Amino acid sequence: MNAFTFKNNSLHAENTALTSIANTFDTPCYVYSKSALTHAFQNFSAGLQGCDALVCFAVKSNPNLAILNLFAKLGAGFDIVSGGELARVLAAGGDAKKVVFSGVGKTEAEMQSAVEAGIFCFNVESRSELIRLNDVASFMGKVAPISLRINPNVDAKTHPYISTGLKNNKFGVAYEDALDVYLQAAAMPNIAVHGVDCHIGSQITELSPFLDAFDRVLALVDALEKNNIHIQHIDLGGGIGICYSDETPPEFSTYATAMREKLGNRNIKLVFEPGRALVGNAGVLLTKVEYLKPTESKNFAIVDAAMNDLMRPALYDAFHDIKPVQPREGTPNTYEIVGPVCESGDFLGHDRNLVLSEGDLLAIMSAGAYGMSMSSNYNTRPRAAEIMVDGDQCHVIRAREQIKDLYLLEKILP
Ligand code: LLP
Repeated sequence: MNAFTFKNNSLHAENTALTSIANTFDTPCYVYSKSALTHAFQNFSAGLQGCDALVCFAVKSNPNLAILNLFAKLGAGFDIVSGGELARVLAAGGDAKKVVFSGVGKTEAEMQSAVEAGIFCFNVESRSELIRLNDVASFMGKVAPISLRINPNVDAKTHPYISTGLKNNKFGVAYEDALDVYLQAAAMPNIAVHGVDCHIGSQITELSPFLDAFDRVLALVDALEKNNIHIQHIDLGGGIGICYSDETPPEFSTYATAMREKLGNRNIKLVFEPGRALVGNAGVLLTKVEYLKPTESKNFAIVDAAMNDLMRPALYDAFHDIKPVQPREGTPNTYEIVGPVCESGDFLGHDRNLVLSEGDLLAIMSAGAYGMSMSSNYNTRPRAAEIMVDGDQCHVIRAREQIKDLYLLEKILP
């Protein structure tokens, strides 16, 4: 479903013109479509109909309370990687009993708050973490439910920075060590072994890495069963890619069907941790052209959004389509779309053929995932406002930051 479409030569989010959003709320701002978010979640869930499954939205991809609340109301659980994300989920009305806690560096305090909240499962990533969690739970007089995150040594065929399931990544327990660590876990008084977890990377556009990883996970589940360790759920992580330009990621229903076939008649719940697939194409970053700057070698369009607002292009050389909100007639020029930050890496797009004038609005597409969530205040730039569109209604779901708040916690020494 595409919630961002042209009506009368003007780009809209649902029934709301992006020009009117810019007029009312100023730029740069993130604009999300409530119906696109809802549709993405429902589409994901539809693939799992009739199956014992839990969809845990990966909070890191877009942690705005309004978005978490929307997914919670639709029945989602949540994948968190910090105590901060747990606090957000609870503040947004999420159910702790549907929370899985991933991440390689959980602190004692984070473990305590998650045990206290009564989360669904800890995805434990090392032997040391397992020992620490057993100690924390023992101190609290509780039992912590766990999966081990297994590193299946599978190539996800994605950008190296967002590939996590290879031997040389910091994530998970090596496949070869898994049985031994499970036996240790099963013998711990304050640990309850519930599941097996794996996550091999992000923006994966082929089915085969998922299938290979699942085969390895199932072989482990069967080996555990032979050792009297009964697995209640398998967490397959996130990672399903979206279309930024011409990628053709598998439909989730195809993926789900393949997994269910492989699972066979084992009585095991399936857990998924999608982030990008639920929010990526439900948001755009709206920005204004401040200056056009032709130089001897390049034409620059300097816009009011920058790498601090959307760092994916600078960090991963990621491609985001860039659309004029009100396309003009004329002969296009080739532009570098850049921000005002003082770095040559501050670009949002290279070599875009566009007809532009100063003051024009541009929509940086597919910016709903890892956009606002990875933004910063670099160059003392207040972070952008976030707007949720619902039909012809607009709601500010995060106000634009104020400059004075950016140095509120700082102190001049006497
Ligand atoms: N579960 C775990 C344990 C993860 O580490 C991640 C993402 C997810 C789920 C969600 O993956 P997704 O469904 O969104 O692919 N900043 C990068 C992406 C980093 C992904 C990190 N882990 C980007 O902008 O492309």
